[in-house]
Amino acid sequence: MKVAVVPGDGIGKEVVPVAEAVLRRLHPEWDYVEVEIGYGRWKRCGEALGAEELQALREADSVLFGAVTTPPDPNYQSVIVRLRKELELYANVRPVQGAGVDITIVRENTEGLYSGIEWELPGSACTLRVVTEAGSRRIARFAAARAKGRRFTIGTKANVLKSDALFRRCAIEEAEAAGLEWEEKYIDALCLGVLMHPAHYGVVVTTNIFGDILSDAAGALVGGLGLLPSANIGDDHALFEPVHGSAPDIEGKGIANPVAALRSAAMLLDHAGDAAGAAAVEAAVTATLDTGMKTPDLGGSATTAAFGEAVLGHLG
Ligand code: NAI
Ligand code: MG
Repeated sequence: MKVAVVPGDGIGKEVVPVAEAVLRRLHPEWDYVEVEIGYGRWKRCGEALGAEELQALREADSVLFGAVTTPPDPNYQSVIVRLRKELELYANVRPVQGAGVDITIVRENTEGLYSGIEWELPGSACTLRVVTEAGSRRIARFAAARAKGRRFTIGTKANVLKSDALFRRCAIEEAEAAGLEWEEKYIDALCLGVLMHPAHYGVVVTTNIFGDILSDAAGALVGGLGLLPSANIGDDHALFEPVHGSAPDIEGKGIANPVAALRSAAMLLDHAGDAAGAAAVEAAVTATLDTGMKTPDLGGSATTAAFGEAVLGHLG
């Protein structure tokens, strides 16, 4: 098993080593390859994602990813958006769990408003929202396969957007083909619903940008971005990363919460077939939080490294 490790930028460099240490503890026999990608690399050599680095990710069974900075510069293409397309990581799985909440947001990851088809005109700029039947069916099937015994909610703006009317039709057909009961909500009402009545929801499937926004907002239910992991899954590759970004406001202080990265490592273990290892990491994280050890985002004073050591201690 080959794991590519991409710390990236900012706090990615602080939380990924904690997650990597846990993987190495559980699987010293795996092959870990560190790969440099991101804004830091761009500043160093003018290229954020090199051909060799992309090849290293293609050759890996799984990628453990931190976060990359995307400067608001129209000439800079988001690396993570590009990676999701290059590796065909069409499913973005974002579990929001804890405090009586157990929601899995499944976001289409390769098209929609992040299709990357954009142009500037004098006085305006256009971004094309491309939703395909193949892409919609693929993500709906993926979500439906994870929804057995759980409520299945389809989130769209099909009342306004033709692209979402297509997504909606495909999602409903795939849910029915999978024998699932389904419900649907417009995305704005769904955001409110998830925040007001989180226990109602199980698996939510939605398009790219809506899933991005909904999953960050839903993070408020369980203690914020520092706790939320995600998986980007395709037929041939899988990349696991915290939902959060590079957090330049706390970079270099050693206080970033490593839980999101640790839980992303647990998702990697699960995907690799080590469900027991994944459960052990989840349990060690919970046990550490239960002792009252918390990083400042959760109101504590623990450092990233101290939290990581405590988790390793609980792993035994
Ligand atoms: P962000 O997630 O980096 O930070 C938002 C807020 O949450 C900040 O106040 C930050 O300090 C806090 N935060 C995030 N993660 C935390 C953690 N683990 N522990 C404690 N506090 C944490 O989002 P923001 O500020 O919008 O973006 C910063 C940079 O990250 C941008 O360049 C953005 O493009 C990039 N980004 C990258 C992503 C990726 O690589 N997948 C995802 C989101 C943003
Ligand atoms: Mg986001």
